[in-house]
Amino acid sequence: MLLFLLLLGIVGPHCTSARTHSIKYFYTASSGVTNFPEFVLVGLVDDVEMVHYDSNTKRAEPKQDWMKVITDEDPQYWERNTQSALGSQQVHKNNIEIVKQRLNQTGGVHINQWMYGCDWDEETGEVKGYDHYGFDGEDFLILDLETETWIAPRPEAVLTKRRWDNDKAQMAEIKNYFTQICPEYLKKYVNLGRSSLMRTEIPSVSLLQKSPSSPVSCHATGFYPDRAAMFWTRDGEELHDNVDHGEILPNHDGSFQMSVALNVSSFPAEHWDKYRCVFQLSGVKDHVIVLDPAVIRTNRGIPSSSSSSSVLHWKLSLSSSLGLDFWFTGR
Ligand SMILES: *[C@@H]1O[C@H](CO)[C@@H](O)[C@H](O)[C@H]1NC(C)=O
Ligand SMILES: *[C@@H]1O[C@H](CO)[C@@H](O)[C@H](O)[C@H]1NC(C)=O
Repeated sequence: MLLFLLLLGIVGPHCTSARTHSIKYFYTASSGVTNFPEFVLVGLVDDVEMVHYDSNTKRAEPKQDWMKVITDEDPQYWERNTQSALGSQQVHKNNIEIVKQRLNQTGGVHINQWMYGCDWDEETGEVKGYDHYGFDGEDFLILDLETETWIAPRPEAVLTKRRWDNDKAQMAEIKNYFTQICPEYLKKYVNLGRSSLMRTEIPSVSLLQKSPSSPVSCHATGFYPDRAAMFWTRDGEELHDNVDHGEILPNHDGSFQMSVALNVSSFPAEHWDKYRCVFQLSGVKDHVIVLDPAVIRTNRGIPSSSSSSSVLHWKLSLSSSLGLDFWFTGR
């Protein structure tokens, strides 16, 4: 679980420059989860979902308009990927049964995850690949491309590690995929989606507070890309105490939202105007809001002018909790 959070959340905003592109594939096979497809495959370019397959639809389908035109140069693209996904579905369902046996588990809820992909630095041409397997939210097998071996953090994975370490033909194929094929496709996708992937969208930023004793939450929604930062300052200095940073979450329209809460309960009222919430998005002027009780939106006696935006805020929070986030925190 930590692995997926690390790869998705923390690496996103701070370590990735605008010139670094990434492709990531997530395969999730589950057993014993009701109302959810037992196999789902998603592909993300620069953290934007561009392809989706699941065991209900049984079709690999584009999630972005710019992916639809890939058939201009590769007419069989969707058919080929549908067949490949159908095959993966079988393999991953089997894998769950194999690991369950090794763990002496017969029933219950189990989740098998596979995440792989590569980063490509458009300036330097540098390419980095990664390949991780997880079972029930814990790392299972991790590829070390440098030493061409597998890391097995759990004893149940050692059998597979030994077998795969000795399979030189498989390792050669894997190495070729991560150094040649993966970056080649990533470049193709980035070129198709460039105008959409490289766009900038400015969020609306508001201060929200549930009750007079709750922290004041600075909430930004509608920004793109997700490489953004938000923090509270006092007299121009970034605050670390009394601050609670939320994750960057996806909205359904492809934009992102985030919030940072400030516990104001110990601040005397006359000092409030020393505090500012700052939202930063690369290439755009900082958005700054002064901590002012008059601009805080609450659920108590909502003024008619701001009720629609409160509803909007609620809808966005709800939609993001039903969105992609399930994969990484849903267990
Ligand atoms: C699974 O059960 C078998 C037989 O009951 C036992 O020998 C083995 O140690 C168990 N394995 C684990 C991982 O608990
Ligand atoms: C806010 O700070 C006060 C005093 O420092 C503390 O008692 C309270 O538990 C904090 N509230 C939250 C939600 O962290």
